[in-house]
This record gives sequence, C-alpha cells and structure tokens, in this order.
Amino acid sequence: MKKKILILGATGLLGTSLTRVFKYDKRIKCIECSHSDIDITNKSKLEELLKKYRPDVIINTVALIGINYCEKHPEKTMKTNGFAVFYLSKLCNEFKTELVQISTHAVFDGTNEKPYKETDKTNPLNIYGYAKLVGEYFVKMNLKNYYILRMPTMYGPRRNKSLGFVDKMIINMKHGRDLKIAGDRIDSPSYALTISKRIKKIISKKKYGVHHISDKGSVSYYEFIKELSKMIGFKGKIKKVKDKDFPSSAPNPLRVAISSKNGTGVNWKKALKDYVTEENIKC
Ligand SMILES: NC(=O)c1ccc[n+]([C@@H]2O[C@H](COP(=O)([O-])OP(=O)(O)OC[C@H]3O[C@@H](n4cnc5c(N)ncnc54)[C@H](OP(=O)(O)O)[C@@H]3O)[C@@H](O)[C@H]2O)c1
Repeated sequence: MKKKILILGATGLLGTSLTRVFKYDKRIKCIECSHSDIDITNKSKLEELLKKYRPDVIINTVALIGINYCEKHPEKTMKTNGFAVFYLSKLCNEFKTELVQISTHAVFDGTNEKPYKETDKTNPLNIYGYAKLVGEYFVKMNLKNYYILRMPTMYGPRRNKSLGFVDKMIINMKHGRDLKIAGDRIDSPSYALTISKRIKKIISKKKYGVHHISDKGSVSYYEFIKELSKMIGFKGKIKKVKDKDFPSSAPNPLRVAISSKNGTGVNWKKALKDYVTEENIKC
C-alpha cells in the first residue's frame, strides 16, 4: 500500500517544494492541503481531515511568518503557530499519524558567534519565535515520536502570493534598483527544494527528534545577495549597510545561521546556482 503523506500549507514556499518532491514518487500518495482547503486553527476541521484521509504522515508547514506582521497580531500568531499545533499533535497521537512540525531558527536569540546546533539554548526575541517555540513544546508534550525540523531563511518557487526576502531582492534587481543589504546579518539561506529532499530522507529513515536543516555554510545577507546578483546578471549597485538601518517593530535575531549533521550537505552557492538555473532567473 502507498504511504500517505499530507502536506499542510502546500501552496506556500516550503509546501510547494515538498509537493514537488513527494508527488512524483510512485510509492507515495501525496495529499496537498492549502489554506483554502483547511484553516488549521479550526480543530473540528482538522479532525475531519484526519478522518477523511487517515494519513501516515502530516507535514505541517503552516505558519504566520512576517516578524512585523506577527508582532501586530500576537493572538492570531499564537493561535496559528502555537495552539493549532497543540490540537494537531493531539490528533496525530489519536490517529497514530506521524507529525513533521516545521520550525525555525527564530527560536534562538542570534547572539552565537557560531551556527546554532540542535542542542543550543533557545531564547526567542519576538512573538513569531515564541509562538513557534510553543508549537515545538506542544509537539513534544503530545507525541512520543515526532520530527521537529528547524529551518533557516529559505528561497524557492511558491504558489502563494507572499514574498520572502530573496523574492523581494530578485524583483528589485529585475527592476534595476540599487540595493542596500545588511552585512552583519548572518544566516544559512537555503533552497527549499534541497531542504525538501532532505526532509523526505529524514522521514523515510524515521530519524525522529529535533533537527536543523539547511544548505551548507553560513553567510551574510550582503555576501549572499552579491553572489545572487552575479548569477543573474544584475548591473546595479549593492551597498553594504548595517541591520539596524532597517527598523523593525520587534527585535530580530541577528546571527541565526544553523548547522547540523542532518543538513542537506549541499553548499549554499551550489544550491543558489541550481535555483537560478532551474527557475531560469535573469535580470
Ligand atoms: N520562509 C522562510 O524563510 C522560513 C524561515 C524559517 C522557518 N520557516 C518556517 O517554514 C515553514 C514554511 O514557511 P513558508 O515560507 O513556506 O511560509 P508560507 O510561504 O507563508 O506558507 C505558509 C502557508 O500557510 C498558510 N496558512 C496560513 N495560515 C493558515 C491557517 N490558519 N490554516 C491553513 N493554512 C494557513 C498560508 O496560506 P495563505 O498564503 O493562503 O495565507 C501559506 O500558504 C513555517 O513553519 C515557517 O515558520 C520559514
């Protein structure tokens, strides 16, 4: 019998790549659920969904993500990123469904000199990070075996209208606009497709637990966008500035690169090149 994998948030950034990775595997029945199919904050709808599909695995990519947006909507954020995960993990326990809860590097405070490991102390600085960490605790509370997978900043194709940092920079470069990019913001920007392939492996090998998943290496936003600009033929200027030049309504952890032996194993430059080539991105 085919393994049933249900993806929540299927039209989002990570959901789009996960769908690509699971959909064409003949051993798997991939069930895609977008926001229009289900609101995960509705507990009875969640229960109906589990009853209808009886999935072997649920991958929950759903979240409210903009730091400023979350800070302005703390209750909605706690509901989506926190309490919905409480009900979801309880239902997964009841239905004997494995849960892959997607989490974030924003559970850290960004003061580490080195990339964060799974064993490092969490200390979120904003509502988004707190709510995601609460979601992690609920998963641990309700399930014996679980996957909590923490992501860095990601880029890739998507089927929703949101724009991430890399999407916005590509749009600016295509319009020929000069850029100002923080040289002191350190991350492990990663291609959602390489991440998704790794997630598939982790599930198939039943590597339960908390894992950081990113492409290899850490890099400043400035260095990353400089590299992207060369790859897509941007001719404008890119000025290196400080992160504090971009005001935010909540503190945003500054050095949030992550590392793990369970990472994708693909160097960040190679992953970026693959993205640019596969999606044919040019200025
Ligand atoms: N993107 C990053 O750089 C990044 C970095 C670190 C961690 N993460 C984590 O990775 C995961 C995936 O992020 P992403 O970038 O793929 O986000 P995304 O593109 O915003 O996708 C999330 C999806 O969730 C849906 N959604 C929102 N509220 C919902 C609800 N109440 N019920 C059902 N669906 C709902 C959204 O649908 P609509 O668009 O229709 O509202 C959206 O398609 C999240 O857990 C996030 O915390 C992301």
